[in-house]
Amino acid sequence: MKIHITEVGPRDGLQNEKENFSIAQKKSLILKLMDAGAKHIEPGSFVSPVWVPQMQGSGKLYQKLQQSSASDKVRLTCLVPNLRGLQDAMKYGVKDIAVFAACSESFSKKNINCSIEESFQRFEQVVSEAKKNKIKVRGYLSTVFGCPYEGKVSEAVVLKNAKRMRDLGVYEISFGDTIGVANPKQVSRLGTKILKEIPKPKVAMHFHDTRGMALANICASIDLGISKFDASVGGLGGCPYAEGASGNVATEDVVNMLHEMGHKTDLDLTKLQKIAKGLEKSLGRSLPSKLAKIKL
Ligand code: HMG
Ligand code: MG
Repeated sequence: MKIHITEVGPRDGLQNEKENFSIAQKKSLILKLMDAGAKHIEPGSFVSPVWVPQMQGSGKLYQKLQQSSASDKVRLTCLVPNLRGLQDAMKYGVKDIAVFAACSESFSKKNINCSIEESFQRFEQVVSEAKKNKIKVRGYLSTVFGCPYEGKVSEAVVLKNAKRMRDLGVYEISFGDTIGVANPKQVSRLGTKILKEIPKPKVAMHFHDTRGMALANICASIDLGISKFDASVGGLGGCPYAEGASGNVATEDVVNMLHEMGHKTDLDLTKLQKIAKGLEKSLGRSLPSKLAKIKL
């Protein structure tokens, strides 16, 4: 099966790094990812710099990426939490955004300072304005498999929010295991229910690897026919509003597993390994990636 990977390292990864990457460092990382075959990348977000200072300068970064011919065939999606974020994104010519809602009230409040209901009301305006300006919108649902503040999350709530996100008219919904608590059985059970409401090509899974279950969860998703996954080079990241949330599953670990299983991706494993090793060097620490530790 052809598997599509959205590279979220420059956003989901770097938003949680203590060390601030300069715009030039981010650009260099993203160009390397494009060279490794990434076709869908999240370069940053238009959120409050008070809340997430690491994402400051995402507009300038986006502009610089647009100047490179390599970005012509790559979808660059920026996160936008509200109308202000959309307006900022539009100033820099962003053509693809992602809105993000939660499935638990406490996480919604901690992450975007409003209730789930209020967030959807905001997103209705954001999506309507985006569509008027021919901007495509991806949707995220967080805490789908568990919440750092509330624990278990009701499947009925997830399905209700998924339908609401679908009805906003997003081109794809990424279902987030924000704190890496999902297990393969849960993914099969909830994934089956999700696929009754959301067409398969519009479903993506976003696994953080906090408990080492992300690869198994990807396999469980593939068994359901899901072919879209988010991943982060090196396994960078986490979420600033989910304590203990470690990075997304490492892109190179996912690609290695998929290729070994006979699936196809657009990505070059050796180039990804090099990028991950380079990140370990510049951050001065070991990253969760397994493939970054293996000799090239
Ligand atoms: P707020 O404080 O409630 O905002 O934050 P406000 O509307 O009250 O405005 C306060 C000030 O912020 C005002 O400025 C606004 O102009 C400004 P002042 O008048 O004081 O000078 N402001 C903004 N500035 C820049 N960009 C904006 C913006 N909006 C208002 N867009 C807000 C609300 C949503 C802005 C804030 O909570 C925020 O930025 N949150 C973002 C948090 C975030 O980025 N989290 C990480 C991404 S989600 C995630 O990682 C999960 C995911 O990976 C999936 C998964 O793993 O499950 C996607
Ligand atoms: Mg995430």
